[in-house]
Amino acid sequence: MSSTLAAPSFETPEKPPTWLGLQAPRYTSYPSAQHFHAGVNADLHASWLTSIRKDQTVSAYVHIPFCRELCWFCGCHTKMTYRDEPIEKYVRVLLGEIALIGKHAAGKGKLKQIHFGGGSPSLLNESQLMSILYALASAFEFAPPGELAIELDPRTTSEEKIAFYGSLGFTRVSMGIQDFDPKVQKAVNRIQSFEMVAGLMKRLHEAGIHQINTDLIYGLPYQTVTSFEHTLKQTLSLTPSRIALFSYAHVPHMKKHQRLIDEHALPDDRTKLTLYRMATEFLLANGYTAIGIDHFARADDSLTVAANSHRMRRNFQGYVTDTTDILLGFGTSAISQFPGGYTQNYSATHEYSKRIEAGQLATCRGWKAGAQDSFRKEIIDTLMCYMEADIGQIAAKHGQDANICARELTLLQECAYSDIAHTKGNLVQIATPYRMASRAVAAVFDQYQLPDSAQYSRVS
Ligand SMILES: C[S@@+](CC[C@H](N)C(=O)[O-])C[C@H]1O[C@@H](n2cnc3c(N)ncnc32)[C@H](O)[C@@H]1O
Ligand code: SF4
Repeated sequence: MSSTLAAPSFETPEKPPTWLGLQAPRYTSYPSAQHFHAGVNADLHASWLTSIRKDQTVSAYVHIPFCRELCWFCGCHTKMTYRDEPIEKYVRVLLGEIALIGKHAAGKGKLKQIHFGGGSPSLLNESQLMSILYALASAFEFAPPGELAIELDPRTTSEEKIAFYGSLGFTRVSMGIQDFDPKVQKAVNRIQSFEMVAGLMKRLHEAGIHQINTDLIYGLPYQTVTSFEHTLKQTLSLTPSRIALFSYAHVPHMKKHQRLIDEHALPDDRTKLTLYRMATEFLLANGYTAIGIDHFARADDSLTVAANSHRMRRNFQGYVTDTTDILLGFGTSAISQFPGGYTQNYSATHEYSKRIEAGQLATCRGWKAGAQDSFRKEIIDTLMCYMEADIGQIAAKHGQDANICARELTLLQECAYSDIAHTKGNLVQIATPYRMASRAVAAVFDQYQLPDSAQYSRVS
C-alpha cells in the first residue's frame, strides 16, 4: 500500500438500480438456515459424528454468546452480561459438549482449524480459553499447521490477553471496528476510540499475530461519504490484512434491539449505495483485492491466495481458506456441517445446557442434503465466491442435464436483474460494481427460496 492514500473516483448512480428492493439469504449455507427443521435431530447428528473417518479433516467453531454491552445494530446471536458467572457456567457446559462430541466421534478426525466466534470471545479469561483448547485437544487429534482464530471486541481486549493469545499460538484475529465516527458510534451504542484500537493492533503485531481482520459496516445512522471515508483512512492506517465491509442488515422485526436505532438517521438507498461504491473504490485503489460479496484482502493474505487459486469456500464464518471435510460447531446456536447435511444447536442457553448436562447432544434442527443440493450449493457458492458460474460445467460435474437451469437462466434476463447479472449461454456473470447483490442472483438458483422474502435482509 502506498504511504499516501489514493482518492476514489466513483460516480454516484443517477437512478436507483432495479435490484435495490430485492431480499435474499446471505448463503452461508445451502439451503439457508431458515429451512432447517426438527426432523434432523440428535440421533442423526450422532450418526454423522460416528461416521467421521480417522483421516477426515475437521475444524471447530466455538460460539461464545456474551458481550459486555449490546451494539444496537447487532445481528449476531449474543446477549449482554456484566457478570462473569454466566460465562463461567456456560464454559463448564461447553466443556461437557466438547467431551460428548469427542465421544461420539470416538477420537476420529484430525482437527486442523479452531475458530472462536460470538458474541465476544475476548470476554473469556485465560483459564477458560485454556480449558476449551485443552478439551478440544483431548477429544480430537490435532493436525497442525492450521489456523487458530478469535473474534475480539476491542473494548474487552486487554494487552495482557493479547500477549496470552500470542503465547498460545493464535494465528489470526478479527476486530470489530464498524465506524470510528463518534456521532455514528453514539447512535449505535458502540463507543471505541481510534487510539484504543490502534494500540491493540500494535500489541497484536508485538505478540506475533500479523493476520488481522477488521470489520466495518456501511449503512449505519449518520454515516456520510465524508465521514465513512475518514473511517476507511483510519482503518487503512492500521494496515489490516483483511477488511470485511458489511452492509448493515436492519431487521428490527427479528432483532428487537435494532428498534433503538433512529430509522430517520439511516442513510437512504442511494446514499447507502454511494457509501458502498466509495468504500470499494477506495480499498481497491489502496492495494486491497475485492473478495466475494463483502471482503477485501491484501495480496499476501491467505484469503487472496485461496481466491486466486479457486480454493476459497463460504461457510457460517463467511469466506474461509478452510478446506476441511467437516465443520463442528460447539455452543448455543452453533451449526455443524457434515457431508450429509447440517445440524444446529439450541440457541437458548437453558435449552442447550439442559441437553448437554443430561449427556445428550443439544441438536434442535438441521438439514439432510437432498438430491440436487450439492449441485445447487456449488452454483450458489461459486457465484458468491467468484461472481461468475458456468452452470453447464457444474451440471456436468454433478451428472445433471445441462438444461436443468434453463428456467433460472431465462429469469435472470428479466428487468430486475439487468444491472447485476449477465448471461452468455450457460455462463452467469455478476456485474462487479454490485458484488453485494450477488446473493439476489444466487437466490434464483435456490430450489427452496421462500415466497416470503421479508425473512431476509435487503441485498443493498
Ligand atoms: C461477532 S461480531 C464481531 C466481534 C465482536 N463482538 C465485535 O463486535 O467487535 C461479527 C461482526 O458482525 C458484524 N455485524 C453485526 N451485526 C450486523 C448487522 N446487523 N449488519 C451487518 N453486520 C453486522 C459486525 O461488523 C461485527 O463485527
Ligand atoms: S457487534 Fe460484537 S460486541 Fe457488538 S453486540 Fe454484536 S457481537 Fe457484541
